[in-house]
Amino acid sequence: MSERGGFRGRGGNDRRGGGGDRRGGDFHDRRGGNDRGNRGGNDKGGRFGDKGGRGGGRGAPRGRGGMGGRGGGRAAIQPHKYPGVFIGHQRGDMLLTLNMVPGKSVYNEKLITVDGPNGQIEYREWNPYRSKIGSCLLVGIDKFGIKPGASVLYLGAASGTTVSHVSDIVGPTGRVYAVEFSHRVGRELCNLAKSRPNIVPIIEDARHPQKYRMLVPMVDYMFADVAQPDQARIFVLNGQFFLKNNGGYMLCVKASCVDSTLDPHKVYAMAQQELKDAGFQNEEMADIEDHHRGHACIIGTYRPTPTN
Ligand SMILES: C[S@@+](CC[C@H](N)C(=O)[O-])C[C@H]1O[C@@H](n2cnc3c(N)ncnc32)[C@H](O)[C@@H]1O
Repeated sequence: MSERGGFRGRGGNDRRGGGGDRRGGDFHDRRGGNDRGNRGGNDKGGRFGDKGGRGGGRGAPRGRGGMGGRGGGRAAIQPHKYPGVFIGHQRGDMLLTLNMVPGKSVYNEKLITVDGPNGQIEYREWNPYRSKIGSCLLVGIDKFGIKPGASVLYLGAASGTTVSHVSDIVGPTGRVYAVEFSHRVGRELCNLAKSRPNIVPIIEDARHPQKYRMLVPMVDYMFADVAQPDQARIFVLNGQFFLKNNGGYMLCVKASCVDSTLDPHKVYAMAQQELKDAGFQNEEMADIEDHHRGHACIIGTYRPTPTN
């Protein structure tokens, strides 16, 4: 990565394998009732295989075997190598999470039902054009610390598009502390949290973590997507308050917010350095240019130097 040599290449990685519960079956897809009812549909890609949307089709899963195939070539769902994430195959492959609130979609994403051993199971399509974490998973990353049962601090939650998938992944035993300072989108986030009890919405400015310190415990993982000129500083500040030693992190850097005249790679390098100076051990950088122009994500582990 980064300090050890820059970006991961875009494109395929072997996302297969991984443990988890192998569920399969026929798809029955549909659009679920949208909680918000005010968003237009977005059927832009997100799939690995077909070239839907801007640059779709990059990062197609490679490796052994095909999707499905069991039971006479029927479509199937496979666990991704990261627990709580799934890959579905219909007309091309797509990222999925298990819907925590069956029957409801959040941003008009597609709902997919399969017949499981104990009845029907519903998944939600995860659109990488709408989510930086989704894009990272599609591009392929070596480390992903958001998993079932984890506590996650999420800065820049907006109305909860990506937060909803994080909520699906961490499940009922995990928590997502979702910080958003805009009251307008914050209202939608609060509505989302009504049907998803593992989301704790926090309508505050992430520049002042002391204002929500009573709501947030030490967390296993921190993610930020605030798109601000001081995004790295905000990240460091919150990490120092809330991230456990050896906790994982992902900072999404929007280059143009820092300096639109600079080469984005220079801005990413500056953000990496700022994190490194504060005890964040950057391990990987995901270039998500294909889905989010001028954005990259820095991924690593927090290892602050002990103070005596
Ligand atoms: C790019 S959007 C986030 C999209 C979201 N991560 C997703 O994938 O669904 C950035 C969000 O960060 C919020 N934001 C920006 N600065 C912030 C701050 N200082 N504190 C809290 N939220 C902030 C903005 O209001 C905006 O909703």
